[in-house]
Amino acid sequence: MDSEKGLPLHRNLDRVPRNVRPVQKAGKTFVLLASLLTLLYCYAEFASLSYGHHHQTITVPLHAQETLVKCRALNTRPGASTNERSQSDRFQPGTNPIVIRNASIWTGLDNGLDVLQADLFLDKGLIKSVGEIDLTILAKDRTKEITVIDAHGAWLTPGIVDVHSHIAVDAAPALSGASDANSMKGLTLPWLRSVDGLNTHDDSYAHSIAGGVTTSLILPGSADAIGGQAFTIKLRSTQERSSSSLLVEPPFGLNGSDVDLEVPPRWRHMKHACARSYSGTRMDTVWSYREAYNRARQVKNSQDEYCSKALAGDWTGLGSFPENFQWEALVDVLRGKVKVHTHCYEAVDFDAFVRLSNEFQFPVAAFHHAHEAYLVSDVLKKAYEHPPAVAMFAAFSRYKREAYRHSEFAPRLLHDDGIKVIMKSDHPAIQSRYLLHEAQQAHYYGLPENVALASVISTAAEVLGLDHRLGYIKEDVVLWDSHPLALGATPLQVIIDGIPQISSPHASIKPASLQSSPTTPDFEKEAADAIKYEGLPPLEPSRTVTDLVIFYNVSSVWTREAGTVQAAFGVQEGEPKGVVVVDNGRIVCANVLEAACASYMLSGSAQVDLQGGSLAPALVAAGSAIGLQDIAGEPSTTDGTVYDAMKSIPSVVGGDSSIIKAIDGLQYGSRDALIAHHSGVTTAITAPTSDGLLGGLSAHFSLGSAHRLQQGAVINDVASVHVKIRHVGEPSVSTQIAALRRLLLEPQGGERGEWLKQVTKGEIPLVVDVKSADIIATLLVLKRDVEAASGTPIKMTLFRAAEAHLLAKEIAEANVGVIVTPPRSFPYTWEGRRILLGPPVTEETVVSVLTSHNVTVGIGPQGVEEEEPMAGWAVRNLKWDAAWVSIGSHGEISKAQALAMASTNIETLLGVQVNPIDGDIVATSGGDLLSFEGKVVAIVSPRRGLVDIL
Ligand SMILES: *[C@@H]1O[C@H](CO)[C@@H](O)[C@H](O)[C@H]1NC(C)=O
Ligand SMILES: *[C@@H]1O[C@H](CO)[C@@H](O)[C@H](O)[C@H]1NC(C)=O
Ligand SMILES: *[C@@H]1O[C@H](CO)[C@@H](O)[C@H](O)[C@H]1NC(C)=O
Ligand SMILES: *[C@@H]1O[C@H](CO)[C@@H](O)[C@H](O)[C@H]1NC(C)=O
Repeated sequence: MDSEKGLPLHRNLDRVPRNVRPVQKAGKTFVLLASLLTLLYCYAEFASLSYGHHHQTITVPLHAQETLVKCRALNTRPGASTNERSQSDRFQPGTNPIVIRNASIWTGLDNGLDVLQADLFLDKGLIKSVGEIDLTILAKDRTKEITVIDAHGAWLTPGIVDVHSHIAVDAAPALSGASDANSMKGLTLPWLRSVDGLNTHDDSYAHSIAGGVTTSLILPGSADAIGGQAFTIKLRSTQERSSSSLLVEPPFGLNGSDVDLEVPPRWRHMKHACARSYSGTRMDTVWSYREAYNRARQVKNSQDEYCSKALAGDWTGLGSFPENFQWEALVDVLRGKVKVHTHCYEAVDFDAFVRLSNEFQFPVAAFHHAHEAYLVSDVLKKAYEHPPAVAMFAAFSRYKREAYRHSEFAPRLLHDDGIKVIMKSDHPAIQSRYLLHEAQQAHYYGLPENVALASVISTAAEVLGLDHRLGYIKEDVVLWDSHPLALGATPLQVIIDGIPQISSPHASIKPASLQSSPTTPDFEKEAADAIKYEGLPPLEPSRTVTDLVIFYNVSSVWTREAGTVQAAFGVQEGEPKGVVVVDNGRIVCANVLEAACASYMLSGSAQVDLQGGSLAPALVAAGSAIGLQDIAGEPSTTDGTVYDAMKSIPSVVGGDSSIIKAIDGLQYGSRDALIAHHSGVTTAITAPTSDGLLGGLSAHFSLGSAHRLQQGAVINDVASVHVKIRHVGEPSVSTQIAALRRLLLEPQGGERGEWLKQVTKGEIPLVVDVKSADIIATLLVLKRDVEAASGTPIKMTLFRAAEAHLLAKEIAEANVGVIVTPPRSFPYTWEGRRILLGPPVTEETVVSVLTSHNVTVGIGPQGVEEEEPMAGWAVRNLKWDAAWVSIGSHGEISKAQALAMASTNIETLLGVQVNPIDGDIVATSGGDLLSFEGKVVAIVSPRRGLVDIL
């Protein structure tokens, strides 16, 4: 049918138009009118028709019926189909029904407070019933086998939903052909769609599922003001193996098929990014929004005008419905049919975007990242229609100026202000496998348990407009080895669309102590200070004591003993607690019996009730840039990068005989440093930042000092010599090895030569930043060659070492130590892709394999993505990274060993000797350093001769 051509029609103009007007609201009139028009339209196809008293000839186009349906659906808000489902649209035929017996089910209902002890029956990709399930009845009229999983009371939650992921558009391992997140073809690109770049071979799928993530919103990147449309996927692989088959409720018509306008549309999603995009200023970005939305508004207005005439029967000269293929998605934003996701950081950005939402009258689903949102919740509340949810990180911050005022208390502060809180990954920035850990941290810092769980499950599903099927006990579930908010919670099984995802799970239910939500510390004052000081609360100790301090009500004490960590005492729950007396920054008495220390407990001393807490050696940060930068992305706040030894170095620096010392560039008192100190990491060993082979000499320094000249601020001017071998194209790996070999076998004169001679004499470690097992093998050969030439064993430490488990035996035999960073592996790049996933996918991790081969293992902070150098923000979480190593090892690695991996082993591996009695000690109240119950309340510093009471 030629939709452009019309046919003349006579009709009664008095009656019809009056009925037409209320069409958007009055449902019944609407239906009546529709039938009437249908009737008229049918006649119109073959005849001129006249009736009524006033005759007039007008033209109705052939597409009138279609157009009127479209017009009536123009502003229909998306919604879920109300049809009861007997089978999921994603059901994979042949999938067996599953019964999960005896689970502790967090349902998401009742504001996240509802928990059931029950069985669960899954069939046809849906959860069919929850309660007491009688297998004999189920088995009766079924031919299919029913898989029965006995949960033994384990926790079960709906699958985790990540509202901010770049899985598949920023695929791992990172290769140029695997990065489809950012288009550079313009500032506003609402016509781009992440679905067009969904790589089905991303290694991340398996990782994220291993963390219980079942669904993710895949957003384009943030290089553009409007980066394009986002799509929700489930992470399991499908039989079709296609990108489209991953989608959950994609917008109708995505594949060009006809859209049924009689049913509500499905939600669409659009990515925006505030602040300075890849070109221009904030002013340019906001103008680009306004320009884009103005164009969309023009299209929308012409459509509305068209429809009001069409619906009024006034077809004269109307032509066809005005469409604009490029701007249609933004028109849908203006019609409230799109969830707007806006990556926005600072007050100025929220303010601008909220103004935009009101100027163009569209609601904002969520502000993402939103580091300063907690400071401006009133601004958020002014957004059009409803306040946006806020999707954020727990601790990842200060990577750029906009994230400088981040607060770990933001989730609870925003929740207190009535804003919906979501934790998100920005995978692969934070690996979505550990998205639950983001919620755990938010909980640790004060977000209530029910809200913390909802933040990555039900609230997330709701903000995606998918809570009719996700985020509750409806489709996908995860069975956990502990309470989901307990540190190290790991899935026992993950079921997506009724299909178990972990083929032979290496995980088992953890002890009872981890089966309830942790009792987290009181951070009321800290949270209030975050607001009071606009994200920059003072971090100096509240009091410094140089004489006696008595810590009482102490449950456990770990101490440094000859390069390792030992439990000094530990009392059980319910037993009387011990006491520790410190004088002049040194422990003078520690005993489970208070009386044993009575002679030290003079009056007038400071007394600290640890409430069943603990003392433990302070941790040591290795391998990050902490101490050399305030804001990673702002060169003017960092030490900068050393000259590449592979290129010519100015003679004024010393040319080929130069070597750079980190100590000369240290910046004390950065927020990362002070926060790390507050978190029990009191010293760091940091090497100069380098893009090339030779980094230089690392320094060991205090993170709590104000400047280099304070007592105890520097522990060792020089710790180790640092080099890095990487696949960078040019120079080749073999060239880098050749250079390293020459540096070690033929050390030249000058300062560089002197330090390299110390390496060959075994006096100072050579630390090699390396990932690939092949390069590690070559380094072991090189070590042998150097030792053969010098006749002396050299000290070699591997740093990062993603693939080290492949050579654990050889590394052990070569007497080489390893600082595994990140401790929980991820295949960021090709040269580090052969990693061990760890539980529940593999029994072992790189840490456990090396440990079982008696390799000296240290761990660095988990960090983010492929930051080189790794930024300092993650150092604060080193205690939890260490705890995870122990908790995940099924008893193979004790807490003392895990503490050593993050303290004494680091010192050994990086060539610093700390007399055990000189090492800092961390006092925690409520629980130990490696727990979600503990809070760091004091730092005992023998070197500085004092106790910092925080
Ligand atoms: C559920 O599991 C717990 C822990 O194993 C057990 O104590 C309890 O008896 C089980 N309940 C049922 C109904 O099987
Ligand atoms: C296009 O998508 C619709 C659902 O939106 C589906 O019913 C139809 O089969 C799809 N067509 C093709 C060719 O994939
Ligand atoms: C010791 O700590 C517990 C909390 O673990 C607290 O209830 C108790 O009052 C404390 N005891 C003393 C003597 O302060
Ligand atoms: C590691 O050391 C322990 C105790 O020293 C020893 O029993 C074990 O055989 C060693 N393991 C390996 C793989 O060398």
